[in-house]
Amino acid sequence: MSHEWWRSAAIYQVYPRSFADANGDGIGDLAGVRAHLGYLRDLGVDAIWFSPWYPSPMADAGYDVADYRDIDPMFGTLDEATQLIEEAHESGLRVIVDVVPNHCSDQHPWFQEALGARLGDPARDRFWFRAGRGPGRPPNDWQSTFGGPAWTQLPDGQWYLHLFAREQPDFNWNNAEVRAEFEDVLRFWFDRGVDGIRIDSAAMCVKDPSLGEIVEGEQHPYVDQDGTHEIYRSWRAIADSYASPRALIGEVWLADSERFARYLRPDEMHTAFNFDFLGCPWDAKALRRVIDDTLASHAEVGAPSTWVLSNHDVTRHVTRYGRDDTAFEFALRGARHAVPTDLEVGTRRARAAALLTMSLPGSVYVYQGEELGLPEVEDLPAEVRDDPMYTRSNGSDPGRDGCRIPLPWTADGPSFGFGPTAATWLPQPADWGDYAVDGPDSMLSLYRRALVLRRSITEEMTWLEAPANVLAFQRGRFTCMINLSERTIPLPTGEIILTSADVTAGLAPDVAVWTLDSGA
Ligand code: GLC
Ligand code: CA
Repeated sequence: MSHEWWRSAAIYQVYPRSFADANGDGIGDLAGVRAHLGYLRDLGVDAIWFSPWYPSPMADAGYDVADYRDIDPMFGTLDEATQLIEEAHESGLRVIVDVVPNHCSDQHPWFQEALGARLGDPARDRFWFRAGRGPGRPPNDWQSTFGGPAWTQLPDGQWYLHLFAREQPDFNWNNAEVRAEFEDVLRFWFDRGVDGIRIDSAAMCVKDPSLGEIVEGEQHPYVDQDGTHEIYRSWRAIADSYASPRALIGEVWLADSERFARYLRPDEMHTAFNFDFLGCPWDAKALRRVIDDTLASHAEVGAPSTWVLSNHDVTRHVTRYGRDDTAFEFALRGARHAVPTDLEVGTRRARAAALLTMSLPGSVYVYQGEELGLPEVEDLPAEVRDDPMYTRSNGSDPGRDGCRIPLPWTADGPSFGFGPTAATWLPQPADWGDYAVDGPDSMLSLYRRALVLRRSITEEMTWLEAPANVLAFQRGRFTCMINLSERTIPLPTGEIILTSADVTAGLAPDVAVWTLDSGA
């Protein structure tokens, strides 16, 4: 693969808890991943991104990190991770690990040290400790992303900041030790052969030290502060210091595509997740607008675009696409939860969307289970829900457990092949076996074909004239056409190399086709 592999890679997201369980305790583990490396190689992806695998009390499913340089015993050992990285490389797969710089776990030794320290002690300066505004009143009105106040008070009266759960204290990035620590963490994993990092909540790290309120129309006090860029410039220098340069991939949620692209300037991150595309409704005009906007803003900074449909935080797209309202927005997830969805329609659209994302220029992400066509599980009983988004919002947000259900590997058997026992940390629906890797389902074969074929789609992209509500583009001899209208239309010319559904009667609604011109 080329030196700049991140420009066009297909990256598979492994959510370790739910991928495969080797020891039968109901929780996925590294041995489970190692046992299925062949599956990932044969799927045709180029890299694996691991959601956090570090020691963690799991207050936010591992995004509360207690030690950035080790593996949680629930998943395995550091030696095993090192071995897994080597084995992945032998299988031709690159490895990306998740780095969480905005916050750590309240069990992290630094936070424990801060708790034991006195007011004004340097140990507290690594976090945000502040006095309140009076009895019971936190230093400001910032809210946690998961709901409720972003501050928790300690017995000594001081408050500490946590933009997520209270078990996730925010680091103070104005502190030099914090900066040095993360630079060292990066080297720790890069030295172990890791090819790239996914940077969690990347645009939130730097806070305006005055900790003022959020005022509409004014610079946000912690989202996209200018100082953030300095962090990633220093990380880029570290990544570039390796003989085969390591990639930085940002989780940057910003509505403004120009501000977003600033993170992708040549001396900052290599790529970042395209959430505008993920959230976009199933609508030709809207999709075309997002694609054009993405390509234009990325071209300005010379960065490759990314195409993402699902991840461990959002409603699975098969379910989204089957609803009347197909867009995704965190704020509206509660309202849309369990609104009836037509999984047949959702699946047909998801198949077409796969052909769209896999032929657009840039890199593409596959969230574990989407290649099986898994829907969101929306009927989890309250007592099994584990996500702080659910608890902290008092249930008004259903949370993210429904997209984190342990994978079905076999049509039968206890836990559908997830592990050797019936144990699963979240319950699997009774029909989960219908989606199994070894089942007759054709979503997996579509992904396999598409992932192989996409490697030869390398030319520049140009839009083609197409009927209303149809998207069509060309890349050299290759054409992708996707029908978002409500009628069947004629197929494009050229040899058909892949379709998302039967096209003998033409290109039906919600169907996509790939063709190749003979070049004559
Ligand atoms: C990111 C992660 C999400 C996590 C949050 C806090 O958004 O993707 O899963 O809860 O950051 O770390
Ligand atoms: Ca296990």
